[in-house]
Amino acid sequence: MLTGKKITVGIAGGIAAYKAAELVSGLVKNGADVRVVMTASAREFIQPLTFSALSGNTVYTDMFDSSHRYGVTHIELAQNADLLVVAPATANIIAKAANGIADDLLSTIILAANIPVMICPAMNTVMYNNPVVQQNIEKLCQLGCRIVGPNSGILACGAKGPGRMSEPREILQAIKRFFAPDLAGVNILVSAGPTREPLDPVRYLTNRSSGKMGYNLARAAAERGGNVVLVSGPVNLPPPAGVELIKVETAEQMRRAMLDNFSAADIVLKAAAVADYRPKHAAGEKIKKNDDAVALQLVKNPDILAELGQLKKHQILVGFAAETGNIQEYARKKLEQKNLDMIVANNVSEEGAGFDVDTNIVTIIYRNGDMKKLPRMSKYAVAQSILDEVTAYRSERFGK
Ligand code: PMT
Repeated sequence: MLTGKKITVGIAGGIAAYKAAELVSGLVKNGADVRVVMTASAREFIQPLTFSALSGNTVYTDMFDSSHRYGVTHIELAQNADLLVVAPATANIIAKAANGIADDLLSTIILAANIPVMICPAMNTVMYNNPVVQQNIEKLCQLGCRIVGPNSGILACGAKGPGRMSEPREILQAIKRFFAPDLAGVNILVSAGPTREPLDPVRYLTNRSSGKMGYNLARAAAERGGNVVLVSGPVNLPPPAGVELIKVETAEQMRRAMLDNFSAADIVLKAAAVADYRPKHAAGEKIKKNDDAVALQLVKNPDILAELGQLKKHQILVGFAAETGNIQEYARKKLEQKNLDMIVANNVSEEGAGFDVDTNIVTIIYRNGDMKKLPRMSKYAVAQSILDEVTAYRSERFGK
């Protein structure tokens, strides 16, 4: 599958460097021509000899090593390849890549790269959650780098949370998908974030959705070659690269945008948390603080997903269910009532799941009753898993 592909693998200094051996081995077994670059810190964890044995090629460690047969090593490795994969990518190499620092061979190769770059973060949870690291990753994302992982779990340092490098097989899968995007030409409509239902010009009813689940779905779908339209309620997230973004505020506006884009869609992923009710009257002027108590009269909002379920023809319709108990029972009811192909149920009262966190714990439920329970993973990894399920279902159902 990767026959003839030239892949430069950069290894930075983290304990996950040992996992890079399995990645390189997997790439070679799949036919890729792999050149490995190691930082000085990476060599503290694992010897270059391992990688030269696995790749069958020289391992590059030094900017100024004149013994290499390439004239200018960093240019050759950065420009004469099909893909540059950095795994593990430590907070340090990510910071250098995001800020144009080139003070060793690997960081110089990243700066000189005019080929696609895939970054696989691996670090301690507190480091990963540090806003500086998050900003750097976000910046790389915006610059078009593909970010794979990290996963959540117990780390080598004993911490628990996001920061584990994705497993080599997951990275290999992401690389295969990069070369053969499985959603190329497929139209994907995603909804994300909360809705805001105005009470008066300065107040509104809303919920705690951050948009992260939906934005990760949109980003993963675009990375897999899909033509993605993202209908988003108000969130504080930058739009994913290569995605058409439609910003909305109210449920009614979201409904309109979803309906407008529905007939062209092949797959619909409805991660938005739509307000079920809205104030019956939105005051034209700011409501004054006169009385001790006020009563709000609410009216029901349209159920957008149920409406799409009624209109469904060729589309694969995937809903979400945000529950706090009886998860599977309630999710199954929604799947039936809204005529969905599958539903992604999350227990939003569970730690590390649901609203406004970077991870999620979901169960994917199919119409025929089949279920797939996923462990706690980053929302990006959850998004990829949902798309794996959707593409498998689509090819089973439509042979596509
Ligand atoms: O945005 P994040 O902070 O990342 O959080 C992610 C999430 C918790 C919002 C997401 O994982 C999730 O569960 N989204 C669905 C939230 C929700 O509204 O669930 P529900 O069980 O109330 O609705 C079921 C489905 O019907 C959803 O797909 C929803 O989009 C849809 N719906 C609901 C009401 C309505 N009026 N119209 C709808 O289309």
